[in-house]
Amino acid sequence: MKKKTKKRVSVVDRVMREKLLKMAKSAQDHAYAPYSKFHVGAAILLSDGRIFTGCNVENASYGLTICAERNAIFQAVAASKKKPKVVAVAVSTDPSVACSPCGACRQVIWEFGADAMVFYKGEKNIVERKMKELLIDGFVLD
Ligand code: THU
Repeated sequence: MKKKTKKRVSVVDRVMREKLLKMAKSAQDHAYAPYSKFHVGAAILLSDGRIFTGCNVENASYGLTICAERNAIFQAVAASKKKPKVVAVAVSTDPSVACSPCGACRQVIWEFGADAMVFYKGEKNIVERKMKELLIDGFVLD
């Protein structure tokens, strides 16, 4: 019997980068942001090829707000039997302004993908950064 081989993703090519950015943009349309009016969408690629998306969800008690990036990661965790490995993260915003992941999201991305690539809008073009450039020495508890 032919052995079933699982698709493993390690490198993110241009086509995948565009796909993730497009999916992040679609996720942005679901944002619940009546307070800031800043709509954010995120798409994350896992090492097994699955893609999850998330949007920011705000609350009248402002501090309860969850960012799009963390929402996407939590969706992946909830749908996985074992710890998911994040290979790439794409972020989209409306209004379309430069916006890199916040500090809390960086620490959460680090937990599931310290080697991930992160794509987001910079001042002019899409910025492409390694997670370790965005957060050096992330917190680990072994
Ligand atoms: N926000 C995100 O969704 N991701 C970030 O990385 C930064 C900020 C959201 C949270 C809040 O709903 C709005 O943007 C304004 O801060």
